[in-house]
Amino acid sequence: MEIGIVGAGHVGLVTGACLAEIGHRVVCVDDDRKKIATLQSGGVPLYEPHLEALLGRNRAAGRLSFAERVEEGIGEAEVIFICVGTPALANGEADLSAVEQVARRIAETATGYRLVVEKSTVPVQTGRWIERTLAVYNGGLAKCDVASNPEFLREGSAVEDFLHPDRIVIGVGNARAEELLRALYAPIIDRTFRCPIHHPCVKRQPVPFLVTNIESAELIKHASNAFLATKISFINAMADLCERAGADVTAVAEGVGLDRRIGQSFLNAGIGFGGSCFPKDLQALVKIGEKLGYDLALLREVERINQSRAALVVQKLKDRLWILKGKRIGIWGLAFKPNTDDIREAPAFRIIQLLQREGAEVRAYDPKAMENARAQLQGVIFCQDPYEAADVAEALILATEWEAFKDVDLSRVKSRMKWPLFLDGRNFFAKETMRELGFEYIGMGR
Ligand code: UGA
Repeated sequence: MEIGIVGAGHVGLVTGACLAEIGHRVVCVDDDRKKIATLQSGGVPLYEPHLEALLGRNRAAGRLSFAERVEEGIGEAEVIFICVGTPALANGEADLSAVEQVARRIAETATGYRLVVEKSTVPVQTGRWIERTLAVYNGGLAKCDVASNPEFLREGSAVEDFLHPDRIVIGVGNARAEELLRALYAPIIDRTFRCPIHHPCVKRQPVPFLVTNIESAELIKHASNAFLATKISFINAMADLCERAGADVTAVAEGVGLDRRIGQSFLNAGIGFGGSCFPKDLQALVKIGEKLGYDLALLREVERINQSRAALVVQKLKDRLWILKGKRIGIWGLAFKPNTDDIREAPAFRIIQLLQREGAEVRAYDPKAMENARAQLQGVIFCQDPYEAADVAEALILATEWEAFKDVDLSRVKSRMKWPLFLDGRNFFAKETMRELGFEYIGMGR
């Protein structure tokens, strides 16, 4: 099938690379000339496991190409995915101007039948606006259907999530759109593609393919993210209660999560969630609620709990170190989570800002996100490795649970610190081991 992808960000690139991998012919378009040049010359503008290999192989096989102009992405593509950014406006609403622009360009230039699929995370009822835009700006030659096909890709495991999804959701208005998307995803639904990441790939059940109307599909995306964020804030609230009650939140989460109706995932207490999705999507959903006359106070509280985690971390330090002014604090991890160089809304940044406001000296290390962080953070000393970040420090904060931190020689770390205070913002290390090593160990809710 011929496919056009507009927007070569994280979602667009992963979608394009994976669809090419399962046999489609894909053109990825982005108006960022530098990004397209990088991709055309074999580079990858972001870090995502497996992506580089997939891009390289499919480009070489002639199934994947990159272009700057939307028209080139439209070309002969029967299915066009809109994967452009929908950043938050100052009032929390999603900025949909890029989505509108793309719909307009498609309407003006496409000929014949096209299925326009919204994949960017958008507020419910955006599909209706895309339909209207396609109708209003139609140059007379295009006949378009609109569908919603939300993505559930996590950064750091996006390729795996795309190829082995829990479900594929499509929102459509007619049978033709449904048939097209079913055919497009057939190799993934039936597991007939050759898996590029697992050798061998275990046999799994066919993937559930859920067909709804467009509004329901749009809401499934926002509701899923909001529910996951709620789980995190819930367990963080429990963590605070555990500290007061003498309980350990990791044990509580395990016990609660063993109930199959609840499940273990997203019950890791800590410094809270970040990234380009949860914080923005929560705000956008609250705004949609307002517009539709429903107060999502529940989600406002989820956000408030999340925002207050950074201040809690700083308070924990003050409880041990008294004055933070002039004290040296090391930070392990800057990315909003492991296996990515993405620092958007990273909890580490919220903590660093507060520490700097207190007058502390911050020294940071991250295995992948240093370059991005350098461009955003002022007054922070960036270190070569985790040891340097611990040098003569009065405290170390683990903000991102990179597996690589498990390989660090903790005795060496301790011997380099001025005061062996270790604040484990992700409950990553066993507290007994840390205490045996001589650290003054503080977790989150334990
Ligand atoms: C999230 C969703 O998990 C994806 O399904 C969705 O497709 C994506 O947003 C999106 O809308 O595009 P992502 O933002 O990549 O994916 O990251 P997550 O793995 O969900 O983690 C989000 C944040 O929650 C991270 O800061 C992580 O550290 C934090 N988190 C996660 C916790 O604090 N505790 C947990 O138990 C789990």
